[in-house]
Amino acid sequence: TEGIVIAIDGPSGSGKSSTSRGVAKARDLRYLDTGAMYRALTWWMLDNGVDVEDAAAVAAAVERPVITMGTDPNAPSVSVDGRDVAAEIRSKEVTGSVSAVSAVPEARELLVRTQREVIAAARAAGAGIVVEGRDITTVVAPDAPVKLFLTASPEARAQRRSREVRTSDVAATQADLARRDKLDSSRTHSPLTQTADATELDTTGLTLDEVVALVVKLADEAG
Ligand code: C5P
Repeated sequence: TEGIVIAIDGPSGSGKSSTSRGVAKARDLRYLDTGAMYRALTWWMLDNGVDVEDAAAVAAAVERPVITMGTDPNAPSVSVDGRDVAAEIRSKEVTGSVSAVSAVPEARELLVRTQREVIAAARAAGAGIVVEGRDITTVVAPDAPVKLFLTASPEARAQRRSREVRTSDVAATQADLARRDKLDSSRTHSPLTQTADATELDTTGLTLDEVVALVVKLADEAG
């Protein structure tokens, strides 16, 4: 798995983040959560009073914040202009606005460039990396030797996400996931798409350990 790139896409709650971190820890790889980058950019826009529904305003501001990612799977980090925003980016406000920001082509261009730099830096250091998001298998790293599309039933995804954000309102969580899925899959630029060359993995009936073991096996087979 030396220098390997593992690309993982899927909708929210499909188990991408836990799986990616688990695989990275199991094989001593780096880990990049690209959703956290879109969230960090969105947090900055909200904090600076940019109207996130105004694509031109978002486009004009994308270069202003400096987003830095820590890629250690045991302690992944995200900061904006040197400030750790790991907690802030999980807020309701950010979650409610991130799909609007991530639909802006200038935002995607900038973050995709940064993501490719992070991948190149890992490989230059002889390290492999697990990268997860919505357009990793299609746009960011289409040549990755391991490409996966994670799915799970809407109910299972809502259960998991509700546990993560500690809410008992699973129905509201499921509605929010459905809303974001729709926005993320229907946008013009790099929508979430499942391609034939990515291995589909339905995680509905599987434990995290089982999913991680399956992905590790694929990675080992790919070299
Ligand atoms: O993975 P997570 O749910 O944290 O991602 C938050 C949002 O960021 C997604 O709903 C999507 O709008 C956007 N995103 C994206 N492309 C990626 C990763 C995330 O558009 N590669």
